[in-house]
Amino acid sequence: MSISGKTKRIGILTAGGDCPGLNAAIRGVGKTAIKEYGMEVYGFTAGFSGLINGDYIVLKESQLSGILTVGGTILGTSREKPYKGYENGNSEQDKPERILSTYNDLGLDCIVCIGGNGTMKTAHMISQEGMNVIGIPKTIDNDVWGTDVTFGFDSAVQIATEAIDRLHNTANSHQRVMIIEVMGHNAGWLALYSGMAGGGDIILIPELPYNIRSVCKKIESRYEEKKPYSIVVVAEGIDHPKNRSAGSYIAEAVKIYTDMETRETVLGYTQRGGSPTPGDRILATRYGAFAAQCIAEGCYGTMVAIDKGELTTVPLSEVGNKLRLVDPDNTLILKARKMGVSFGDEEI
Ligand code: F6P
Repeated sequence: MSISGKTKRIGILTAGGDCPGLNAAIRGVGKTAIKEYGMEVYGFTAGFSGLINGDYIVLKESQLSGILTVGGTILGTSREKPYKGYENGNSEQDKPERILSTYNDLGLDCIVCIGGNGTMKTAHMISQEGMNVIGIPKTIDNDVWGTDVTFGFDSAVQIATEAIDRLHNTANSHQRVMIIEVMGHNAGWLALYSGMAGGGDIILIPELPYNIRSVCKKIESRYEEKKPYSIVVVAEGIDHPKNRSAGSYIAEAVKIYTDMETRETVLGYTQRGGSPTPGDRILATRYGAFAAQCIAEGCYGTMVAIDKGELTTVPLSEVGNKLRLVDPDNTLILKARKMGVSFGDEEI
């Protein structure tokens, strides 16, 4: 209940690329809102499209049971950007007005937007229109500014690591160079963590410009050390020609320069599906339950976040248009270098 005694009515949506843990977050928000605070919960379908078109389902507590472990999102998602063009004042569409109408017509007290950087930017725009909003950060890329970690990342690291383990076996059997491309168009967190967890020999991330000759030198030196196979983990967003995948580009270059048998594997959307890891289930649940608490306390215009293991909030105004990239001096990178892992940027 609000201070006025009116039952609070909240909306939830999931936007942007999906990831494991979305349903756990929806459940965390919804169950806490209903059971602890007596709120009404509306789930908007297909991201911001649901808010624009007034497409929603009323979520009862019973509908939030049995979804904790399920991948994807029961609400659906989309990459709809309702404020696109508005910043430059050249948009002719009426989506922002329709969002405001939905909000007012349904008598909403707050909208919980679960998503990545783009979603947090839109959430901020909505709050600037006078609506109450709370953001929950998710993405397998782990690149949302303002939080130490997003849910979805741990699950994707597990999926990618398992794939690297399998590729390790076949690389060893055939004495081949295996190039594994993982997601991460701006940030190399997934490549770095899965590459390290999977014992990658070379890890290429967008934050560290690589030199293909340095990559090949590392592969050749392993060959000379009687290690005739190599594992190269590549983030999809490294510098490469845009008409092909980063993995296939590196594979071809390695073939040409080293003359070694080389194969590439692009993990693609497998990294975004499936049941969340226990760690992601807990993180998404903590975020969701905390978001409901923030609504009860009227802490709007914020994104829930983790700072040194503790839940906190950051203003949405600070989050938009920023990315949390891998620091070249990240301690894991420094440790990896000391162990002989190459990032393709070593002197040749
Ligand atoms: O969710 C982030 C991400 O997985 C990126 O790493 C990737 O480039 C992008 O989404 C692709 O998603 P879509 O094809 O759904 O736009």
